Amino acid sequence: MCGIVAYTGNQPAKEILIEGLKRLEYRGYDSSGIFIANNSSPYLARAVGKVAELERQVWNSAPDGAAGIAHTRWATHGKPSEVNAHPHADCGSKLYLVHNGIIENYLLLKKRLQEAGHTFKSQTDTEVLAHLIEANYQGNLPAAVQKALMQVQGTFGIAAMHIDHPESIVVARRGSPIILGIGEKVSLAASDASALAQHTDKVVFLEDNEVATLEPGKFTITTLDNRSVSRGTTNLDWNIESMDRGSFPHYMLKEIFEQPEAVENALRGRVNHAEAVAKLGGLESVQDRLLQARHLIIVSCGTSYYAGLLGRYVMETLTDLTVETELASEFRYRKLNIRQGTAVLAISQSGETADTLAALREAKRKGALVLGLVNVVGSTITRETHAGVYSHAGIEVGVASTKSFTSQLTILTLMALLIGRSRDLSYEDGHEIIRALEQVPDQIREILKQAGKIRELAEKYCHSDHFLFVGRKFQYPIALEGALKLKEIAYIHSEGYAAGEMKHGPIALIDPKFPTLALALEDASYERVVSNMQEIRAREGKIIAITTEGNTKLGSLVDDLIYVPRTHEAVAPLLTVVPLQLFAYYCGVLLGRDVDKPRNLAKSVTVE
Ligand code: AGP
Ligand code: GLU
Repeated sequence: MCGIVAYTGNQPAKEILIEGLKRLEYRGYDSSGIFIANNSSPYLARAVGKVAELERQVWNSAPDGAAGIAHTRWATHGKPSEVNAHPHADCGSKLYLVHNGIIENYLLLKKRLQEAGHTFKSQTDTEVLAHLIEANYQGNLPAAVQKALMQVQGTFGIAAMHIDHPESIVVARRGSPIILGIGEKVSLAASDASALAQHTDKVVFLEDNEVATLEPGKFTITTLDNRSVSRGTTNLDWNIESMDRGSFPHYMLKEIFEQPEAVENALRGRVNHAEAVAKLGGLESVQDRLLQARHLIIVSCGTSYYAGLLGRYVMETLTDLTVETELASEFRYRKLNIRQGTAVLAISQSGETADTLAALREAKRKGALVLGLVNVVGSTITRETHAGVYSHAGIEVGVASTKSFTSQLTILTLMALLIGRSRDLSYEDGHEIIRALEQVPDQIREILKQAGKIRELAEKYCHSDHFLFVGRKFQYPIALEGALKLKEIAYIHSEGYAAGEMKHGPIALIDPKFPTLALALEDASYERVVSNMQEIRAREGKIIAITTEGNTKLGSLVDDLIYVPRTHEAVAPLLTVVPLQLFAYYCGVLLGRDVDKPRNLAKSVTVE
């Protein structure tokens, strides 16, 4: 979902800005552009398509100016085109601006500006900002930006420069993240820290309705109404090599293979073996309120929603909580009983998903205890919840959520253990869960050794036009997640269903060209899943089954089998999701999809 990079310092800006845009490509975009302040003549270049197109233009023609701004656009107003790409300029071609977000009252502002003589070149809402700042500019760029943004309704993350102040960059945010990076004689800003990590580990998180002015190695922050804000830097423990693909052909495959470490990181320091309880430091400040909660509502989107769905099954198994899950985008339409004793948990990898942010703000407004389970440190959701737990999955570059999902499942199980052991969950049962969780990293390593076999399955099935994924109880959310992965990575129409629902309609779809992936572990629901598979078989449907190692009973009922190690049924989803991720990945690769940046998708959906 678009990106901003800004730099002012002592090196030529063009390399730094282009590299920064490449670090943000995973967020999804359709065009890009760059502005470099240069004493003699400012430089502007914009291109439709990949950042590589822009790079080709910039490499030989851009000056060596040491300050500039750059942008990847995700079009909302005006089609992807060079004229609509950012940066946008004012009438005098003196002010240049890039923007993430939507200016909701841009038509009214544009009309007023046109009546005042401003001429527009693009169809975007963003260009209005450039002219609005120009209309307020009297030599002081931060002041002009403050006055302009006070008139704006909607969301923005912006970076602006004026040729009168070639070393200065003004950034501001409301709803679209902007993070500052401060180094020795250099200052940067970006939509997320992955574009800063090569230059500094000292970052500053801008809050909504704040404006920052960057000069080389220093920054100041004010509110929109010019009240000064003092905020120190935060050290981020990014390791740059973790951001590179290494020997993997795609980030998605790398991140699938990083899942053993992601689960280990999620568990590290969070288990008290002596008492068979979980220790979640991020919840300690609200632990009393949490342990008294009677009602938990989990809100999230996409893969994070399926993590929440599984969390409900686990929480209801290990605790006496009443647990609801709700799609964050539907939360606003619910008349939820948020009363004393209600906790709301927002799950998000990016911590910037607009639907989830809106839901948690609504819950907070109604008096709920609002918690977060987030991967990106310092993201907006982490700063708006009462408390929370970090996934510690590391940077996830692939648009598809993989290691962040298994990390979420791990932490949800720890949360259930924490609450359950304060109620009627026995020491023995708690210890069994911990033992099962601690075996997961090596069990995933075992499963990953089957990657070649799963690739062969993908070769066999990737030309199917449709796919059905079925599972029961703890495996039902995994069926939904498996279907989503195949949809978003291979663009194959896939349905995820509770296996028991087959007879209520979906079985009408089954024929030899409509294969099913059945999650048939030897657990409490095994026999029922097998009977669902028999219904499918009777209609000549092909079946790939995932089952427990050592199970030899499925024989002729299935066409293909994938085995996973035996474990506690509440922990088994951490294992069964891995073959589904690999299956979707290999189908996508075999079909020539851009598996790290699938069409139409963004890693962080910051619009509702
Ligand atoms: C899943 O692979 C997708 N990337 C998408 O469904 C994602 O899970 C959803 O947009 C929620 O994102 P979040 O976890 O960052 O809030
Ligand atoms: N709304 C602006 C446009 O359509 C910005 C979109 C974005 O966030 O990239 O150009």
